[in-house]
Amino acid sequence: MVYFDNNATTRVAPEVVEAMLPFLKEQWGNPSSAYSFGHELAAHVEEARGKVAALINADPREIIFTSCGTESNNSAIHSALLTNPEKRHMLTTSVEHSATMKFGEILQKRGYDVTFLPVESDGSLDLHLLEKSIRPDTMIVSVMWANNETGVLFPIEEVAALCRSKGVLSHTDAVQAAGKASIDVKDLGVDFLSLSAHKLHGPKGIGLLYVKRRTKYHPYIIGGGQERGRRGGTENVPYIAGFGRAAELAMAGLDDENTRVRALRDKLEKGILDRISGASRNGATEPRTPNTTNIAFEGVEAEGILLLLDQAGICASSGSACTTGSLDPSHVLLAMGCNAARARSSIRLSLGIYNTEAEVDYVLNCLPGIINRLRANLPPEKVEAAQVGSEQ
Ligand SMILES: Cc1ncc(COP(=O)(O)O)c(C=O)c1O
Repeated sequence: MVYFDNNATTRVAPEVVEAMLPFLKEQWGNPSSAYSFGHELAAHVEEARGKVAALINADPREIIFTSCGTESNNSAIHSALLTNPEKRHMLTTSVEHSATMKFGEILQKRGYDVTFLPVESDGSLDLHLLEKSIRPDTMIVSVMWANNETGVLFPIEEVAALCRSKGVLSHTDAVQAAGKASIDVKDLGVDFLSLSAHKLHGPKGIGLLYVKRRTKYHPYIIGGGQERGRRGGTENVPYIAGFGRAAELAMAGLDDENTRVRALRDKLEKGILDRISGASRNGATEPRTPNTTNIAFEGVEAEGILLLLDQAGICASSGSACTTGSLDPSHVLLAMGCNAARARSSIRLSLGIYNTEAEVDYVLNCLPGIINRLRANLPPEKVEAAQVGSEQ
């Protein structure tokens, strides 16, 4: 199998599995218990908290473990609205992950005003427009750092600075940035930041929300006093330990991601664009995560490409795994001004630290044949259109 869908999820690193096993097999107690078999585990939770905090240069007390990136995004926005009851406006973008988009849509139905900022045709954000759109009643600006479909990076430091100057809370969904860009929350200045372990070779079902010191926080999951009263629910010790180990590996692997993985992605992207007529990239070349490319193939449907890639043992996707199964074209590509046909003909290839050059060569060998095969099955007038080069 060639796995080129690392933005959907990543392989759990063997070192992470090792770090988790003791807490599944032997030390399975509850960290809140009074006896030592339980409460000794609290030290392991704190050790992992220190490791994930180090990944983003946070104070460990600023970290709340959650069940996933989705919960982290929901929690940040929910906290902003409960701590600013007089404010009724949320500002976000039209290319966010559904964990933010859908929450915004629900707020709209509850009578809040939510602005989904448009993006440029290369997926970038117009900071002047963002600045103009911040209102006196804006409770939070939630802008993702790295787009999961195109890899395009938003200037989060500038967004946070704008928010600070206007006294508005800022949140960034950094789920796709972690392990690919170096993150320093002290430089960044955001109030909230979301991460998810399974995008950086940790297990699924564990994430974190960074809450800046002195930023008011209202819990989303109400229950016991875990996480210093900020998130109820018995701590998932094995997953927390796994997340801690994954964070250590991500820090150590950042250079590899930015050199070797970037070179593999660039070879793959250039190879596809050179070899296949009517193929063109969606989104800016830079700034972009080093592992992601999103390519449109004129005249063919992504569904067919993915099916034939799968038959060749290659895993790729046509956008967010969370919306797979929906027949709608990608909201990210539509927001960038692609028409529905182009959006439906686009696939995302996202690489990772376990990929090799041989795998890139294999995909470069398979893909032209797959596209030709699909185009050959089209009615003649469509085949002709498919051979015309694309403009973007
Ligand atoms: C940008 C982004 N935000 C949030 C999420 C949700 O993370 P999780 O799967 O941990 O809920 C994802 C996962 O696909 C993502 O890509």
